[in-house]
Order: sequence, then structure tokens, then C-alpha cells
Amino acid sequence: MTVVALSAEAMKRAAAAAALETVTHGMKLGLGTGSTAAHFVDLLGARVRDGLEVLCVPTSERTRAQAEGLGIRLSTLDETPELDLTVDGADEFDARLRLIKGGGGALLREKIVAAASRRMVVIADATKEVRTLGAFPLPVEVDRFGARSTQLHIERVARGLGLIGTITRRMAAPDAPYLTDGGHYIFDCAFGAIDAPEALAERLSCIPGVVDHGLFIGLAKAIFIAGAKGVRIIGDISGEGP
Ligand code: A5P
Repeated sequence: MTVVALSAEAMKRAAAAAALETVTHGMKLGLGTGSTAAHFVDLLGARVRDGLEVLCVPTSERTRAQAEGLGIRLSTLDETPELDLTVDGADEFDARLRLIKGGGGALLREKIVAAASRRMVVIADATKEVRTLGAFPLPVEVDRFGARSTQLHIERVARGLGLIGTITRRMAAPDAPYLTDGGHYIFDCAFGAIDAPEALAERLSCIPGVVDHGLFIGLAKAIFIAGAKGVRIIGDISGEGP
């Protein structure tokens, strides 16, 4: 028997394909951002071409452009403020469905869209699974006004929880800071293991100047995890769960 190792892209696509199985006619969907979410949008586009009717809200301008190009019917949260399901990727997740997101810079819109959805499901390859969040530097979206002060405030809050690490403003080019779709900076916080993500999330949210952070807690209902042996699901995909 020949065993064919799946590439990372093949695993992402497998997770996306499995999540697509849960999409039904007439659903209002949130579309995530990132390379895994892009596979989902691509596969959804094919289903739409075959007649599936869905109405979608993208979480970034990138995803909007991709979905538009595929002929997927789009809306905004102002026109469609409540969604049935959001499917998005993640940079890290743990067994309790807690996530780090924002590696692609879209965390604010991703969180708003996920919170507007009855269910959020995550699609990821198995390399994103961790015992403790934090190996991936936590992205924090910060208003440009007073950003240096906000950075110091983030450092103090983290130190209060025993978290010490480098905080780096994300750059688009050597002389140009990265700006999110909302025009904010991203600070990537390399704290290492975050033992109390709830406490950190709560304290970061209280800092004036922090627009949002990449800890997604209590939002994901299920995670489709693609590995060498296929797709495994943790959480609840029935739509009945909390
Ligand atoms: C975008 O801001 C992120 O939250 C992405 O969902 C996350 O970075 C996962 O991206 P990949 O699927 O490209 O790994």
C-alpha cells in the first residue's frame, strides 16, 4: 500500500471541505480570512456555481475580493446583522476551543462577525493544535493614536500575569507599519505560554487604545482538524450546543 503524505495545503482544504458539509441552502454565512479560510471560500464558490444559495459577510477586504470573484452573494453586517454560521481559520487552538487569531491581521472583523453568528466553526490543520496557547505571538490590534503608550500598558498588564516577552509592531515593509482594514496597528506579543487566557483577554480589553486582541474565547463551537489520517472534529457541530 502506498501512503501519500498530505501537504499542509491539502490538509487545510480537507478541513474546509468537511466544514462545507454543514452549510445548507439559504444560510447566512460569515467568511473568515487566511489561507485555510480561502480554501473554504473557493470550495463554497464551486457549490454556489452549482446552485447553492447563501448570503455571506466577509471578514476582510481580501476575502471580499475573493468571494466577489467567485460570484458569491455578499452582504454587510449592517444589512444582515445576524448570521447562521461563520467558518474561519485560526493560528492556534487548544482542547477547550480557545483560539489565537489575527496572524492575517483581520482579528477585529473576524471577532465581530463571529460574535454576530449563531455558530462559529474553525477549520485548521493539526499543526495548529497546542496544549497551551501562546507559542504563536498574540496579535493585539491597537489604535494609532498613542500607540507607544498603549504598548507600555499592554506590557504592564502582561507582566501582572507573569507574562514577559517581546512586543513587536507588525510591519508591511521595513519603513511602513502594517495597517489593518480598519486602519489600526497590530502588535505581535511573544509572551510564550499563556496559562490564563481568560484573564489576559479581560485585562487587554480594558486598555484604552486596544481595539481588540486575538484571543477568541467562548466563540468557537467546533473545530475541524485535518491531519494525516483525515478530519477530526472537536466540539459540537449540531448547532444545538451552547
Ligand atoms: C486572520 O486574521 C487570521 O485570524 C487567520 O484566520 C489565521 O491567521 C489563520 O490563517 P491561516 O489559515 O492562513 O493559517
